[in-house]
Amino acid sequence: MFSIIAAIGKNHELGKNNSLVFHIKEDMRFFRDTTKGHKVLMGHKTWDSLPGKLPNRKNIVISRNPVEGADLTISDLPTFIAQNKDTNEEIFVIGGGMVYNELLKYAKNLYLTEVDAAISDADTFFPNFNQNEYKKTIIKKGSEDDLTYTFAKYIKK
Ligand SMILES: NC(=O)c1ccc[n+]([C@@H]2O[C@H](COP(=O)([O-])OP(=O)(O)OC[C@H]3O[C@@H](n4cnc5c(N)ncnc54)[C@H](OP(=O)(O)O)[C@@H]3O)[C@@H](O)[C@H]2O)c1
Repeated sequence: MFSIIAAIGKNHELGKNNSLVFHIKEDMRFFRDTTKGHKVLMGHKTWDSLPGKLPNRKNIVISRNPVEGADLTISDLPTFIAQNKDTNEEIFVIGGGMVYNELLKYAKNLYLTEVDAAISDADTFFPNFNQNEYKKTIIKKGSEDDLTYTFAKYIKK
């Protein structure tokens, strides 16, 4: 089973120049606590944007090229999806834009930190999705520095 986790702006902004557009400590903690102990699946660019392997998680990177330091590299995404989409094990899809786009239709849960801010020069976006296909729960709301945000969970109906 796949669960997506992302922090997105008002216009679904995700990233800029291969880094995050939002740096919210509470969101980083939520990400760490939610994904801890699970497999995390990411694109090669997101992997390259990290300072290193995410600890306490199996780091799976999608790429057609060799990837240094990952626990597992996958070049055949369709086969990986077919093998994992109907299992009970929760695999967290952690980005970026290309990979969210490819996995959205297979994801049972979307954990979205919805930030009440727009970033005019973002270059990577979360895909649009039909909210009617999901049951939405608000986990909590928060604020940090000048940003307010909502931790939402969407479960596919
Ligand atoms: N806001 C958030 O929550 C969040 C989370 C994660 C990332 N981000 C941001 O998103 C941006 C990166 O996203 P991105 O869309 O540019 O890149 P990405 O999705 O992280 O990675 C794209 C790369 O993954 C590989 N890939 C993807 N699909 C594949 C497939 N079907 N088969 C084989 N390889 C595949 C390719 O690598 P190769 O070229 O090596 O083949 C491709 O170039 C950064 O700015 C990052 O900070 C934001």
